Formats: sequence, C-alpha cells, structure tokens
Amino acid sequence: MRKPIIAGNWKMNKTAAECRELIEALAPQVKGAQCDVVVCVPYTDIALAAELCKGTNIAVGAQNIAWADNGAFTGEVSAAMLKEAGATYVVIGHSERRQYFGETDASVNARLTQALKTGFNPILCVGEMLDEREGGKTEQVCRTQVVGAFKNISAADAQKVVIAYEPVWAIGTGKTATDEQANETIGYIRSVVKELYGAAVADGMRIQYGGSMNAKNVAGLMAQPEIDGGLIGGASLKPDDFAIIVNTAK
Ligand code: 13P
Repeated sequence: MRKPIIAGNWKMNKTAAECRELIEALAPQVKGAQCDVVVCVPYTDIALAAELCKGTNIAVGAQNIAWADNGAFTGEVSAAMLKEAGATYVVIGHSERRQYFGETDASVNARLTQALKTGFNPILCVGEMLDEREGGKTEQVCRTQVVGAFKNISAADAQKVVIAYEPVWAIGTGKTATDEQANETIGYIRSVVKELYGAAVADGMRIQYGGSMNAKNVAGLMAQPEIDGGLIGGASLKPDDFAIIVNTAK
C-alpha cells in the first residue's frame, strides 16, 4: 500500500505575509489528513513556512536545489541552506524549469543526486509537451526523462523519490488529463522504474499526477489505481481548495 502524497507547488507566488495567511488558513483544515501533505514554497518563504508548520502535519519543500554544496553559483540555493531554513522536500525538474531556465536531464540528474545525498525527499517532475503527446511520443519522452534523472542513482536512493507526472499541456491550462490518460502514463512510468530498479522499488514508488488538478477533479484522479497523489499549482494557492484536495486523498 502506497500512502498518497499531496503537494502544493506555489511557484512564484506568495510573499511572506501571504504565506502566513495561507498556512494559517490551511493547517486547521488538513489536520486529519490521511495522506502526506507538503507545501513547496518560494525560497524566501521557507523559513517562515517551516516555523508556521511546526507541530502540524504539513511538511515544507523548496522548488529546486543546487547540485553543488557551495561556491560560485549565483542565484542558486544549496542543500544546507534549504535544510537549515526547514525544507525537507524539494521539487526537481519541473517543466517550467526545463522550458524557461534551461534545465536538462543532466542538470536534473545532478540536482536529484545532490538532494538524495543530503537527505531530502525529492519530487521529480516529468511529462510531455502537447506536440509530443499528439505525435504519439508521450511514453518515449517520459522514459527519457526518468532514465536520465535516475542515472547512477542506487535503488536504495531511488526508492526515496516521489515522481510527479505532469503533462505540460495540462499545467495551468485548466485542461486536465483524463483520469484514464493520467493513470495510463503513470502506469507506464512505473514500468520504466521497474526496468531500472525491479518490482519492489516500482511497486513502492509514489507517483503523483499534476496539471490543473483541483477540488472538482481530484476524486476521479485519486480513484485510479496508479495515481498516488497530486502536485498542485493554482489550486494550492487557495487554502479551502487545497484542503479539499488533501482530504480527498486517502
Ligand atoms: P497547475 O495545478 O496550476 O496546473 O500546476 C501544476 C503544476 O505545475 C504543479 O507543479
């Protein structure tokens, strides 16, 4: 049995003051959650979010992590910095990082390696673009991204990773993948993990769906056998909606 995991990815939203407001509204509503609950916040909100989430069942995550321990890497944030601020999860390889900031399978692999080495719970994002889905390349793209991300990572480390399948065409568009599409591709991703690491790791690995997941479509998606939770963008910015999603994931 895999415990579902619902993670909010706030992206570049919420100042510290807004972060406080959101978490104070959210925490009491998700107290009884039967899934793992995570909020992945902007770097500048991590310390405050961690303080506010103390004593709650909400964990705090970052949205990226540097591959190096320290040094001349302007704009990057290290594992030690994130850990000290209170993050325990980290999103890696989000499609927005790949699309707008030049992340590649190699940089994703380097960041994932570092996250595992430093004891984070990584949420690794993979997913195809619209033209790739329409061109029948969904499986090929997901395979390449998964194989690339896990290069030289041991089975013992791999089993600590959560994968988020996020079809790029469904992100922020209101165009959710159908329950069946999401389930089918996640099942395929699990089969790739099985090829890499065997059945025990594949069967234990939690694979989320992400892309316009919301309070209305969460039940259908979560009813699918392969879907172990969600990575939520827009709807995670509204505490009432995010709480519904969390409380639907059992
Ligand atoms: P939306 O839920 O806003 O579509 O974003 C999904 C996402 O990218 C989460 O990482």
